[in-house]
Amino acid sequence: MKGALTSKKSGDSSASKELEPERSTEALADENSPRVIALLNQKGGVGKTTSTANLGAAFALAGLRTLVVDLDPQSNLSLHFGHEPAPDQPTVRDLFMNPDIAASELIREARSNLWFIPSDTELALVEGELALQPNMQHILAERLAPVMPSFDVVLLDCPPSLGVLTVNALTIADEVVVPTQAQYLALRGLEKLLETVLLVQRALNSRLKVAGVLLCMHESQSSHGKAVVEEMDSYFAKFRGSGLPWQDAVVLRPAVRRNIKLAEAPSFGQTIFDYAPTCAGAADYRALAEAIRQRWKPVESRVALSASAGISAS
Ligand SMILES: Nc1ncnc2c1ncn2[C@@H]1O[C@H](COP(=O)(O)OP(=O)(O)OP(=O)(O)O)[C@@H](O)[C@H]1O
Ligand SMILES: [Mg+2]
Repeated sequence: MKGALTSKKSGDSSASKELEPERSTEALADENSPRVIALLNQKGGVGKTTSTANLGAAFALAGLRTLVVDLDPQSNLSLHFGHEPAPDQPTVRDLFMNPDIAASELIREARSNLWFIPSDTELALVEGELALQPNMQHILAERLAPVMPSFDVVLLDCPPSLGVLTVNALTIADEVVVPTQAQYLALRGLEKLLETVLLVQRALNSRLKVAGVLLCMHESQSSHGKAVVEEMDSYFAKFRGSGLPWQDAVVLRPAVRRNIKLAEAPSFGQTIFDYAPTCAGAADYRALAEAIRQRWKPVESRVALSASAGISAS
């Protein structure tokens, strides 16, 4: 079965036009490649998927052509868009394992300006299979390269691990956003995550930077939370000018407050902007998307994605 875009392309609808590169040029580093953001934290349940779906929706509403990619075998991202997995549908697993299926056949339209690539539970098997392939870190970059010029922003929802799927995401990303809670142990996990980012940045992707941490389910009144946020602020401040990929990282503001509507929306197959557009969760993700966008600067020495797909470890 062909994916939504392909079937629309082969039919007479306007979908083929929709995938033509008619992107906004504002805030973009390279007119041939989108801004690629990996939402990553090896800890589970911190808000990665909720943030990917709702930041993606916020970027789309702001007029940016946005692709979100579900790299997690739990496949939760699709739920936010009302997508029910079907056994015969190609998924992100085909990107890794099935070179006969083009990336464009996997892309589904979720909303105006918003597309996604679904995952499936069998993606869990890919980790082991990929480990045997020589070029394993670059597969995502190579396979997505043909569709990248169609988008302004690509968001990658990573699984809660630092395995080969996550490394593929980091190999293609411009920046990492780390959804987390303001808890003491989160700082410890952050150091491990930054180590992985540094390894990938040195060996595979010199563009990679850490934008910062995104506080999810935030309780601003908690004194422990306030103390941890201060500690995170001063932690990042220590690295200014260090040359490390997190030298410009910050605690992104605003924090996303704990808001039950954000937990309810996916059970209705909706983003927060469909489900409760005036709630605090919608306001937070809208403001956060704008804040992230304001921070975008031209990426130094950026190479076109098709070229970066050929970078080898050094
Ligand atoms: N701001 C929020 N307020 C209330 N609930 C939230 C908020 N953000 C996320 N949640 C809920 O917390 C749970 C975990 O969120 P989410 O699935 O986004 O985390 P995750 O990091 O992607 O998890 P995993 O590591 O398992 O992929 C979900 O039930 C989600 O609905
Ligand atoms: Mg998730």
